[in-house]
Amino acid sequence: MTFVIGEACINCKYTDCVDPCPVDCFHEGPNTLVIDPDECIDCALCVDPCPVDAVFDEADLPEDQHHFIELNAELSLLWPVITDQKDPLSDADDWAGKEGKFELLERAAG
Ligand code: SF4
Ligand code: F3S
Repeated sequence: MTFVIGEACINCKYTDCVDPCPVDCFHEGPNTLVIDPDECIDCALCVDPCPVDAVFDEADLPEDQHHFIELNAELSLLWPVITDQKDPLSDADDWAGKEGKFELLERAAG
């Protein structure tokens, strides 16, 4: 079991989730974060701080976002760890709550 970042993070990247994590699970790409499933200790401390409810217990991930389980595992191997909160993307508030953002995910290392 692990926690997973889903579609709502894309183009927002508020990073409120980062500081509460006791084990530095978060990895940063150009326009989203992902969680390393091998590091996550299932503490759930990152869930409530996210302003767009992008973080899920793997078991609670909506059916249409199940591909994010593999995506978090894959991209956490490619992207650098982020350990401190930083400013969100400049147009984060415009993208908050929008659906259909999956195709906008940028894979190039952050
Ligand atoms: Fe880190 Fe806990 Fe969130 Fe896992 S559930 S990413 S260990 S804060
Ligand atoms: Fe993304 Fe929410 Fe964290 S928008 S960076 S999962 S606080």
